[in-house]
Amino acid sequence: MLDIDLYEQYPIMMSQQNKNALILGASKGIGLAAAKRMYEEGTTVFINSRNLDNLKLASEYILEASGTTRGNIHLIPFDINIKKEVELSLDKIIKNCKGRMDILVTNTISGRSSQRSFLELSDRDWDLTFVYKFKSIVRVIRKILSLMLKNEYGQIVNIGSIDSKEPQFGYSPSVTMRLSMTAYLKSLSDKVASKGIRINQLLCGYTATETLISYLEAKGKLQGMPGKQLQESIAKKIPLGRLAHPDEIGDVIDFLVSDDASYITGQSIVADGGLLRSAL
Ligand SMILES: NC(=O)c1ccc[n+]([C@@H]2O[C@H](COP(=O)([O-])OP(=O)(O)OC[C@H]3O[C@@H](n4cnc5c(N)ncnc54)[C@H](OP(=O)(O)O)[C@@H]3O)[C@@H](O)[C@H]2O)c1
Repeated sequence: MLDIDLYEQYPIMMSQQNKNALILGASKGIGLAAAKRMYEEGTTVFINSRNLDNLKLASEYILEASGTTRGNIHLIPFDINIKKEVELSLDKIIKNCKGRMDILVTNTISGRSSQRSFLELSDRDWDLTFVYKFKSIVRVIRKILSLMLKNEYGQIVNIGSIDSKEPQFGYSPSVTMRLSMTAYLKSLSDKVASKGIRINQLLCGYTATETLISYLEAKGKLQGMPGKQLQESIAKKIPLGRLAHPDEIGDVIDFLVSDDASYITGQSIVADGGLLRSAL
């Protein structure tokens, strides 16, 4: 027999329509796809990137794709790696969101990782990777989490990579920070779960964003093959036989921040078309 008390412990459920979401790195690629999807659900989206013009284009794209002419999209330009800019912008956002930020998606490129060989990596390489891939993200989480804790409601999703499950050779600082982020998010999710806050991570596989396509073009050139050919050879290794469309990744992010995922927290979910071989 079902214990009726179980139902009394259900978390607060909110329609997507009443939510505010801050999405970092949302002028392009995966972040933009997530913002579009949430906007379509009726969420008020605060979209960030370093460049206001890119954000304007992104908001036009979101409006056009969702068949609306004006709506609840706020453009929040700041560089996630510049502490002063981050602090000023987050203070402004907090004023604008009337004390409620229900969703935070931490998604950025945040500076390229050094590709030097292990013995050539300097202290500076490690320090910079720590700042770009870890500390900058923690700074934003800390500030927004304080709002979520007051409201006893919130969802955070960090965008990571399958690299942290299966590290690629030559990327050790980046992979190390990604794994540190996983540990940080896991322990944080444990602490705040009882306050109605869920924290998860989405580990993406190859996703056909502009940045990935130009990276493959450049890599292909070095290997003496067109980028398209390199893309095809990668696709062959993926059980689903193709790269992800950014919208497919946006849909998973939207699911993780929705109340449909109300029993999922502290997880690193993989969306890679089946590329990773491990069963768990
Ligand atoms: N695409 C893939 O195949 C793939 C695979 C695994 C993991 N990922 C991860 O997914 C995330 C997004 O990748 P993506 O391919 O969607 O990248 P993308 O298309 O290049 O988008 C990156 C976004 O971040 C913004 N951005 C970059 N640096 C920033 C900074 N310092 N401060 C604020 N905003 C910044 C960019 O906007 P502006 O240029 O306008 O600032 C852009 O909106 C990354 O963390 C990446 O490692 C991607």
